This record gives sequence, structure tokens and C-alpha cells, in this order.
Amino acid sequence: MMDGKALAARVRADVARDVAELGHVGLATILVGDDPASHVYIEGKHKAATEAGIDARDVRLPADTPEADVLGLVEQLNGDDEVDGILVQLPLPEHIDETAVTYAVAPSKDVDGFHPVNAGHLYLGTPLHVPATPAGCMELLAAYGVDPSGKDAVVIGRSEIVGRPMAMLLVQAHATVTVCHSRTADLAGHVRRADIVVAAVGRPGLVTPDWVKPGAAVLDVGLTRTEEGIRGDVDPEVASVAGLLTPMPGGTGPMTIAMLLRSAVKAARFRRGLLAYPGL
Ligand code: GUN
Repeated sequence: MMDGKALAARVRADVARDVAELGHVGLATILVGDDPASHVYIEGKHKAATEAGIDARDVRLPADTPEADVLGLVEQLNGDDEVDGILVQLPLPEHIDETAVTYAVAPSKDVDGFHPVNAGHLYLGTPLHVPATPAGCMELLAAYGVDPSGKDAVVIGRSEIVGRPMAMLLVQAHATVTVCHSRTADLAGHVRRADIVVAAVGRPGLVTPDWVKPGAAVLDVGLTRTEEGIRGDVDPEVASVAGLLTPMPGGTGPMTIAMLLRSAVKAARFRRGLLAYPGL
């Protein structure tokens, strides 16, 4: 099993050292409405940020906040020198255009890496801010000695937050990448050929042991809350076939938080001129 909690603790300790060295790193999060899962995620991000010495600002707005107010707040944080990174927790309530809000965040402060400028830099192979979940998956692979170069990788899911950036990071690491999704004709056939599998669709137990190539590295990003508790996209029995597997929970989730903190440090370095970056 790949111990995401232990690796996340190591990354967070590195971040705490970097924050102490920089003197101040500011991170502002915006949570609109009362989605219960989003509240849990924001609590986790704040606890970890504060423990790492990051000056974390927790902005919470009621569900009926007008879009213009959210955009106004983002603009204000863009211009606030104490704030290095800005994160708008998704999903936003129905009446707010997520694209408009995502595009409003200054690319240099976009610690989620969701702005098209950051997505574009990732596509071109010159990443600045990278979405935290796929970045965490790459960190897990590296920590467990899996070099994607020359390997066949299958990403299940094509979301903007996980699937697409994951595919880009694996290509950049010289893997041969197949992106599978709801219209894929023979999902099991693709997965059976893969040395690296990343499952990120939110379908509990989708990946079964008979789909997995013996010895493959399997990363489970899907998270569904069921009556029996939290379930991933990967059937736990896959552990009997895979070479490496992330547990759910305790795998990719803790790494997502750790990588977000690392992005905040990167934003602070960039804004202090300690990190040169083309095009921003
Ligand atoms: N909602 C689900 N995952 C994420 C994430 O990584 N960042 C933000 N901002 N919202 C999310």
C-alpha cells in the first residue's frame, strides 16, 4: 500500500520549513454555501495550512451570495499583498458561473492551477501552478520508485481538476497515456494493459482485480460517500494483484492537501521574485 498520510506529513514538514524561511505565506480560501463535503475539505486545508505556519484566511459566504460579490472579493484578494494564494472551493452554488470565478483569480495566485493560463502552461510543459490532486499522484509515484518513463498509463476520467491535468503530467514524465471516460468502448481492456492506473470518476469499486495487470501501480482518486462509509473507484481486492495501491481513505486525499500547501509556497516565492517564470 502507498502510504499517502506518511508522505503528506513529509511534504508538510518541508512546507513548514519553507514558510519559516520566507517569513510569511498568505493563503485565502473562499467557500460559498453549505455543501457538507466542501466544508470538510476546507477544514482540512485550513488545519494543515495553519500547522505549516501559513497565514490562512478562511472566507465563508452564504449560499445566496450574488456572483458579483464573489468576483469582487476575488478582485480584492488579487490586489492584497498579504495574500500569496487564492483558492475558491468548488462546486459553487448553481447561480454562480464557476468559469467566470475561476478566470477571475490572478494566475500567479491561482494555487489550484485551474486558471486557463496555468492549464495552458501545464499543456505546454512549463507548469507553474498544477492542480493538487494530480500533483500528489505524481509525488506518490516518485516516492514509491515508479518512473512513468516508457510505461503505459491509463487515466480513468477527463475532469479539469484531475483527469486532464493527470494525463498532462504523465505525458511530461514520458509515459504513454490513454485517457478513458464514459464513452470508452473497452475500459477493462485499456486498464489491463496499464502499468499505471489513475481512477478518478467517482464510481465505487469500478476497477476490479481482473482488470489490473499484475504488479501495476494503481492510484485511487474517486471518493464516494455511501451508507457503508467512504468508497473509492478501486475495489480494495485489487491489492492482491497490484504492485502498489493507494488506500481509500489515506492515499491521494492527504497528498492533495499537502500539494496545495506546496503551491502556496510556490506562489509566495514567485511573488517575491525568488522564482522566475515566463509569461506571467
Ligand atoms: N473541489 C474538489 N476538489 C477541489 C480542489 O482541488 N480545489 C478546489 N478549489 N475545489 C475542489
